[in-house]
Amino acid sequence: MEKISVIGSGIMGSGIAQVASSFGVEVTLVDNDFQVLETSRTKLENILNRLRNKGKIDETASKKIINNIHWTSDLSDISDSELVIEAIIENLEMKQKLFIATESLVSRKCILATNTSSLSVSEIASVCKYTQRVMGIHFFNPVPLMNLVEIIPTEYLASYILTDIQSILETWGKTVVRAKDTPGFIVNRIARPFYGEALKIFEEGIADFATIDWAMKELGGFRMGPFELMDYIGNDVNYSATQAVYKGTNCDPRYRPSPIQKDLIKKGYLGRKSGRGYYDYSNGPFSFKPQMNQKLGEKILNRILAMLINEAADALALEIATREDIDIAMTTGVNYPKGLLQWADEIGIKSVLDQMKKLQSNTDDQRYQPSSLLENMAQENTLFYS
Ligand code: NAI
Repeated sequence: MEKISVIGSGIMGSGIAQVASSFGVEVTLVDNDFQVLETSRTKLENILNRLRNKGKIDETASKKIINNIHWTSDLSDISDSELVIEAIIENLEMKQKLFIATESLVSRKCILATNTSSLSVSEIASVCKYTQRVMGIHFFNPVPLMNLVEIIPTEYLASYILTDIQSILETWGKTVVRAKDTPGFIVNRIARPFYGEALKIFEEGIADFATIDWAMKELGGFRMGPFELMDYIGNDVNYSATQAVYKGTNCDPRYRPSPIQKDLIKKGYLGRKSGRGYYDYSNGPFSFKPQMNQKLGEKILNRILAMLINEAADALALEIATREDIDIAMTTGVNYPKGLLQWADEIGIKSVLDQMKKLQSNTDDQRYQPSSLLENMAQENTLFYS
């Protein structure tokens, strides 16, 4: 692929353009805001300067990356593209409008993709004349550093396009997984209990933020604890991902947003970016000391892990992705220490199921309904990887 366009030169669009351009692709990067285009170019120049100073790229490579990108506010500049990736703001009507405009400018062969993280790809595609060339290509932030990409076909997509796009992304150094067009795709759906169950444990007064974070890191091997990670992602961003999955699944109680998160947002405690979130960052990163109690830590880890595995099993049962892609997505997209289905095999399916049943009987809350796949597997004594 030699020529592509990326529409929206915000954080994601600029990152996608940088990656494609680094692999020799000519990129037209469009934004309707001049100031954003300016910033996008300056930021890339700064990134490339840093990479040059570190000796990661030479001056020729750096110049090539910049020269391969054409920053423009004129949408008609996309006309000779082989692929257009839309990365404008997350609004269905605006995206649909843009797809109609895009289709009127490009050739029939041009592939159209959306980088949406919470909207239905099929709904975006539904306004197009040639729906067989529309798909989702979901990158992760920051695009140059995060290797995972979820590709999402719609029921109309020509299957060779999915295969072609997968190969192209792999030549750009990406790890590609295929996901069904469902709320949150793979990562944003399966990761929900990492945050949601941690919040529930806190709400029930079982442990404070620091203890929950400590348990997940020290005993679970996660790189960051749920509260640290929510503060890092931004509580507004995390909350809107939860909301999107909750609404998209007709308010499935598993994804019910926590009032604590809503309250923090109301107060402007958005996390690191605002200086305060679950933790106060004004006097260093943490204001709480964890209770390093092994038994309590294990209880926390086992509960959150069971919920995560249950979620992964359910995604497999719903055919959102293959077992391999589910495990790759979670280890690559959110750096989990192990694939959740592999982890389930190691812990024992029955033990995960028992944990879910215990939570269900203790609370009578539908969020603890075990996946029927786990029930069947426990009965038949099978493993995810046999
Ligand atoms: P952003 O707000 O940084 O950038 C969006 C850009 O689109 C803005 O610069 C805006 O001026 C421009 N824009 C809006 N309407 C336009 C139009 N009609 N034509 C041309 N440009 C237009 O947003 P961000 O974070 O880069 O997100 C973009 C998309 O990527 C969204 O769909 C988002 O859900 C998705 N996404 C975001 C991730 C993130 O972590 N920020 C991760 C994965 C996907």
